[in-house]
Amino acid sequence: MPHRARHIRIAPSLLAADFGRLRDEVAAVEAAGADWLHLDVMDGHFVPNISFGPVVLSSLRCHSRLPFDVHLMIEPVDRYVQAFADAGADRIAFHPEAGPHPHRTLQLIRSLGKQAGLVLNPATPPESIAWMLDLADTLLVMSVNPGFGGQQFLPSQLPKIAALRAMIDATGRPIALAVDGGITPDTAQAVIAAGADTLIAGTAVFAAPDYATAIAALRNA
Ligand code: DX5
Ligand code: ZN
Repeated sequence: MPHRARHIRIAPSLLAADFGRLRDEVAAVEAAGADWLHLDVMDGHFVPNISFGPVVLSSLRCHSRLPFDVHLMIEPVDRYVQAFADAGADRIAFHPEAGPHPHRTLQLIRSLGKQAGLVLNPATPPESIAWMLDLADTLLVMSVNPGFGGQQFLPSQLPKIAALRAMIDATGRPIALAVDGGITPDTAQAVIAAGADTLIAGTAVFAAPDYATAIAALRNA
């Protein structure tokens, strides 16, 4: 862990919000100090749950200035990238297992002027993305299996975060290192110590009585 202070971004995951009041929920986390809004897109095929698609993004886009950080848990990916870009995504991350040509998918996302991200499942080794780092703007480590909010953090992922931090630092490029799943003030501390700079949190923000307090507790972990 380097000794310089790292600015920690907090990205609340809309999956844990009240879906009957999405516009208000987004406004509330924006006012509470969120840095990005994390949007989990699930297809009931790549993961065993269905959430929402580009229509929900475009409906929220005009009500928020937060960067929209889209986490695609869908297969295939490429066919839908344009729709999410048009709907207002700023960052689009996907699982390399979801298609035969993840390098091409990164090229596609970047060709649309969006920041491109790779998501590593708990069983996916850090070396698997080594030859795509030059096209990545975000690496996202899953600290639970994708598909559901409210799961237990997997400490087995901490050495992977540290390995990816070293790989990112070696590039000299400002690649965001995000962690997603089971993030609480306790687990946030371990994740930040391992080298993460971006915390994605659903339950820890949207199930808290006060969003600003919850976001500050994560950021200061
Ligand atoms: C899980 C999603 C996460 C999820 C995190 O597939 O990628 O973003 O919403 O939820 P919590 O923070 O409750 O673990
Ligand atoms: Zn996510």
